[in-house]
Amino acid sequence: MKKLRTSKYAVPRLTLADATTSRQRDPAPIYILESAKEFYRLEQQSRVTAYRFETEENLFRKEVQKRLNSKSNSSTELKILDAGCGSGSYFARLAREFSMFQFEGWDQAEDRIRQASRLYATTHQNLTFHRINILNIEKNDPRFKSDTRFDAIFCRFVLQHLQPPVQKNWIRALRQRINPGSPIMVVDLDSVLGHFHTEDSRLLRQMKTLEEKLPIDLHAGKRMPQLLWEAGATSVELTIEPLILQGKEIRAESVRMQARLEHAFPTLKATLSSEREANDFIDRYIRFLKFECRCLYFTKLIAVARFTKKGIERS
Ligand SMILES: C[S@@+](CC[C@H](N)C(=O)[O-])C[C@H]1O[C@@H](n2cnc3c(N)ncnc32)[C@H](O)[C@@H]1O
Repeated sequence: MKKLRTSKYAVPRLTLADATTSRQRDPAPIYILESAKEFYRLEQQSRVTAYRFETEENLFRKEVQKRLNSKSNSSTELKILDAGCGSGSYFARLAREFSMFQFEGWDQAEDRIRQASRLYATTHQNLTFHRINILNIEKNDPRFKSDTRFDAIFCRFVLQHLQPPVQKNWIRALRQRINPGSPIMVVDLDSVLGHFHTEDSRLLRQMKTLEEKLPIDLHAGKRMPQLLWEAGATSVELTIEPLILQGKEIRAESVRMQARLEHAFPTLKATLSSEREANDFIDRYIRFLKFECRCLYFTKLIAVARFTKKGIERS
């Protein structure tokens, strides 16, 4: 009998055929964690203290404040974008704090945009959410053909979900939406599965296959500064922060990691060539985190890039 993964996070059973069909319909890559529960997963993730989200959020606050100070009239309204906003929860915190500015969250997922709009509609008058495929703006939403430009753009944990050639298009798309000299802040990890040592050679082999073949980039953080320079940024300021998980935090991380892997199951299955191998990988990885791993660490990179008018107008 077929072994079915059953967990509270189980995703709707997509097949590789579904993925291929939707890839044909839309040239944008599929978000591999897509699931009816993704809004809640992101919402919970935004509250995990071990990820030290306050670092980028505080840096972003400073940038917004700088933009405000640099505008001749301090009552000028700033427009701020979260590109790939997910559940939008941290953006809602900023929107409440800077209630005089306009905040927009863009995401390609209909579900998350609907849920975020509903959640914040009454409490946040200055925050709107729009379903937009940022890689395909002109085609899929004629309203955004206009020259809408922002005074700051925030983009966290999206690059890792794109393949390197697509990452270039993503940065170009953000560049087209920023006002000259204004900050684009991009945040990502240098190793999404984390750094650790294991003697499990099969797990190591499976991870190597995933690194080579998954239709995403598990090392997006390492590529990020170069991507921004190549896109014509005139300055890129980097902040690098180690995230170290030990003891109870690793247990909690194993639960979160399991949720991610369950959401990504159809892609893992296609990448590792069989359901059995995908199940085996999840079991080994989660078992390792729960019972063997003593220290798991990630490096978070936060880049603030600026572009001149000429840089923005590059094709
Ligand atoms: C890992 S989530 C990160 C969400 C949020 N930025 C955070 O830090 O919690 C990545 C998000 O990027 C969105 N995304 C991926 N590709 C996109 C695209 N082409 N256009 C718009 N959003 C996209 C996904 O739908 C998903 O909600």
